[in-house]
Amino acid sequence: MSLPPRRGVVLAGGLGTRLYPATLAVSKQLLPVYDKPMIYYPLTTLMLGGLREILVISTPADVPRFQQLLGSGEQWGLRLTYAVQPEPRGIAQALLLAERFLEGRACTLILGDNLFYGYDLAGRLHTAHARREGATIFAYRVSEPGRYGVVGFGAAGQVTSLEEKPARPVSDYAVTGLYAYGPEVVDMARELRPSARGELEITDLNRCYLERGQLTVERLGRGFAWLDAGTHDSLLEAASFVQTLERRQGLKLACPEEVAWQQGWLDREGVLACARRLGPGPYAEYLRRIVQGADRDGQP
Ligand code: TTP
Repeated sequence: MSLPPRRGVVLAGGLGTRLYPATLAVSKQLLPVYDKPMIYYPLTTLMLGGLREILVISTPADVPRFQQLLGSGEQWGLRLTYAVQPEPRGIAQALLLAERFLEGRACTLILGDNLFYGYDLAGRLHTAHARREGATIFAYRVSEPGRYGVVGFGAAGQVTSLEEKPARPVSDYAVTGLYAYGPEVVDMARELRPSARGELEITDLNRCYLERGQLTVERLGRGFAWLDAGTHDSLLEAASFVQTLERRQGLKLACPEEVAWQQGWLDREGVLACARRLGPGPYAEYLRRIVQGADRDGQP
C-alpha cells in the first residue's frame, strides 16, 4: 500500500541580526537573491523533491508578508499553509510547530535562507524521500566548518559524531539546512530540551537519530553548490552565483512556475497565467519565453 505523500516545511523566521539594518523591517527570506525572493530557492528545492503540501513558518510580523507573496500556492499547483514561530527558539522547534500540519506524515524540512544547486538534486531528494523512517541529512565540504554542525566520519565512512559549531571541527563536512525525516520526528523532537543558548537544536535531534542507528548522511560532492545567504557577503555571493548561471544559460534557477510546469503540476496555460499576473518585466517575459521555447524545441 502506498503511503500518504510526504510534506514539506520551510523555516523562514529568525531575527536575521547579521543582516541588520537590512532585516530590521523585513524578513531575511523576503530579500532578493538576484532576481527573486530568497524563499523561492528553498521552496523550489522541496518542489524538485516532489513535495506539493508545504508549511511556511515565520515570525508573527512576517507570516502575513509571506502570505502576500506566495498565497495559497495554487498558482503553482501547491498547497501552502502558514504557521507562526512566536520567538526564534531553534530550528528543531519547527517540527513541533508543524505537528498539526504534518498529521503524522514524513516530512522534509529546509531552512529559508539555504540555496542548493547541482546535478540530480531531485534524484538525491527522491532517494532520501523513499526512506520510510529515520533521518537523512546532507553534508557538504566547507572551508569554515566550525560555523556549522559538523559530521565526523569513521575509517569506513560511517558517521561517528555530530557536533554543533565545534571549536575544533573533526572534519570539513558541515550539515546543510535540508533534513528528511520519517513520521516519528515529532515524537523525537518532543523529547528535546533547550540548549545553553535556549534553543531546540536540530543537531541534538539528528544526534538522537544517530544514536538509534537511524541517521543517513548523504554527502553532496564538489559538483554541488550549497550557499546560505545570512550575511552581507554571503547574500551578495549568492546573488552573483545566480546571476552568473542565469546570464550564461538563459535559464532561471529556482523559478517556481517552471519547476511546477516540469513536474506536471501546471500546464502551459497555467504558466502563462502566472506571467499575466506579473505583467511586464523580465521575469514574466522569461515565463513566456520558456513556454514558447518548449513549443519550438520541446520542454527543457
Ligand atoms: P540563523 O541564520 O542561525 O539565524 P537568523 O536567521 O535569525 O540570523 P542571525 O544569526 O543573523 O540572527 O537561522 C538559520 C535559518 O533558520 C534562517 O532561515 C532562519 C531560521 N530560523 C528560524 O526560523 N527560527 C529559529 O528559531 C532559528 C534558530 C532559525
